[in-house]
Amino acid sequence: MTIKKGEVSFITGGASGIGKALSENLVSQGGRVVIVDLNPETSKALADELNKKAGSTVAVSAKADTTVWEEQVAAYEVAKKAFGRIDYVFANAGIAEYPWIPAFDPSTAASRPFTKPNLLTVNIDLVGQLNTAALAFQIFERQEKNELGLRGKLIMTASVFGYYPCPSMPMYAAAKAGIVNFMRSAAEFYKAKDITVNLVAPNLIDTNIAPDSLFVPFRERNLLTPVSLVVEQFNTLLGSSTVTGQALSINGEEVWVHPPESVKFKENDPSCKLIDEEISKLFGYTKI
Ligand SMILES: NC(=O)c1ccc[n+]([C@@H]2O[C@H](COP(=O)([O-])OP(=O)(O)OC[C@H]3O[C@@H](n4cnc5c(N)ncnc54)[C@H](O)[C@@H]3O)[C@@H](O)[C@H]2O)c1
Repeated sequence: MTIKKGEVSFITGGASGIGKALSENLVSQGGRVVIVDLNPETSKALADELNKKAGSTVAVSAKADTTVWEEQVAAYEVAKKAFGRIDYVFANAGIAEYPWIPAFDPSTAASRPFTKPNLLTVNIDLVGQLNTAALAFQIFERQEKNELGLRGKLIMTASVFGYYPCPSMPMYAAAKAGIVNFMRSAAEFYKAKDITVNLVAPNLIDTNIAPDSLFVPFRERNLLTPVSLVVEQFNTLLGSSTVTGQALSINGEEVWVHPPESVKFKENDPSCKLIDEEISKLFGYTKI
């Protein structure tokens, strides 16, 4: 699915890796991009390069730490001033795992003070992306529908570790699993409100997310997922696509739509549906 010329994308983590490839691809399709990143140098350099190549302003950069709500709102102000409407928001910024508590060692545990967990990964990969989602929904709510009847699209970057446990990366797995079930819940909520919500969940891609040495054994065994294939999957969700609630997964060259959890789903369904109805009443949510 290709985008319409001039459509605008707000991309967090847009200066490197997946976000950079996406920014370049969207501009090559005639789109305009707002590169939102913690790193002002790389995001400005990318915007300058894209503008130079296009011979017009097709990209702007905005520095923001996605974990800080006010910084994301400020980035939106930059976007609005430059381009007005936002058609696509990509909640993409993320980092890899940091050890959250000291390694298990009964022989030294008693002599150590209790260590506060390092929740940085959850903070950026889950809370930061939720900030972006909260901003996206409020931007789209204020916009008129486009000619396809849509107010805007949110696309999140999860990971296959949103479904598969990883003993050495519990914070990353927790964050990405959070994104998966958030996306499924929000997609259902916004379905009738002309906003689509989807995610892309790749396996390992050679980017700046980890030191190069980590990728060596994956290169040797041909186990990496090409970033171009990830960008292709993002593209299937754009333009005239009305798909919502989809988790597009990619491992190597293989792509699949990951189904929602189904164990005991039928048994839980009546109770979960009723909880949803009661909470909707409590919060005053209306089904349009
Ligand atoms: N590379 C992989 O193997 C892989 C696989 C699956 C999912 N992902 C996910 O893809 C997303 C992008 O990762 P990548 O591989 O392109 O990494 P990357 O390190 O190449 O790029 C991430 C970008 O996000 C920015 N960033 C980091 N923290 C930020 C913050 N708090 N606020 C704003 N910007 C911030 C960085 O400055 C960087 O430019 C992440 O959510 C990551 O979890 C990556």
